[in-house]
Amino acid sequence: MRLNKFISSCGIAARRKAETLILSGRIQVNGKIVLAPFYEVDPRNDIVTFDHKELQLIEKVYYVMNKPAGYVCASADKFDPVVVSLITDYEGKLYPIGRLDKDTEGLLIITNDGTFTHNVLHPSKRIPKEYEALLNIPINERQAENWRKGVDTPDGRFVTPVRLEIMDREPANRWVRVVIISGHKHEVKLMANGAGFSVERLIRRKIGKMTLETLKTGEYARLSISELSTKIFNGGIV
Ligand code: URA
Repeated sequence: MRLNKFISSCGIAARRKAETLILSGRIQVNGKIVLAPFYEVDPRNDIVTFDHKELQLIEKVYYVMNKPAGYVCASADKFDPVVVSLITDYEGKLYPIGRLDKDTEGLLIITNDGTFTHNVLHPSKRIPKEYEALLNIPINERQAENWRKGVDTPDGRFVTPVRLEIMDREPANRWVRVVIISGHKHEVKLMANGAGFSVERLIRRKIGKMTLETLKTGEYARLSISELSTKIFNGGIV
């Protein structure tokens, strides 16, 4: 197993951070500093240490959550409560994947598997995400059509949604369903700004074909990696 994967599988850092740790010289294999992220280790026979403490592979866990507003997607934060603090049946370190803003609600994946993003949710896999957005003012079909054709975002990009439709939901003509592929920060809010609106409430409803339906706000469910992947790629509700 490659050293960077070994470290992210020990739960101390996600894959990219694992590489930084290796390059900083704090990782040793059998007593020698190794600076190469792709160095091959044998998890059964080699002793890998981080700041001289031995690392052990840990069981990988996967959660899906209905994120409440007011929680930040980080493993720790000085000022705000973090989403991982809502998970009370697991003691180790966890990371949210595919961040949602503090005020955004809805479907979120949380795991200690640092390679999951890379293998399953990497942007190259182009997994669509579906959001429901409450706009500040009503939108009409002509404005929706302009938004579909693409908008200039305040940060200087031209972006088009994969899908945009006005929802049949109260208050009338204020809710839109937006599907995006890009993983840019604040993408839905920036798109809405580009189209002449601001977003008052944002809920992520789907990741790939996995749909948030049964989990109530703040609730979560633990899944195996195959259950999770099946829901994302073949469909399923949580
Ligand atoms: N787009 C946003 O603007 N915010 C999110 O939290 C997710 C997508």
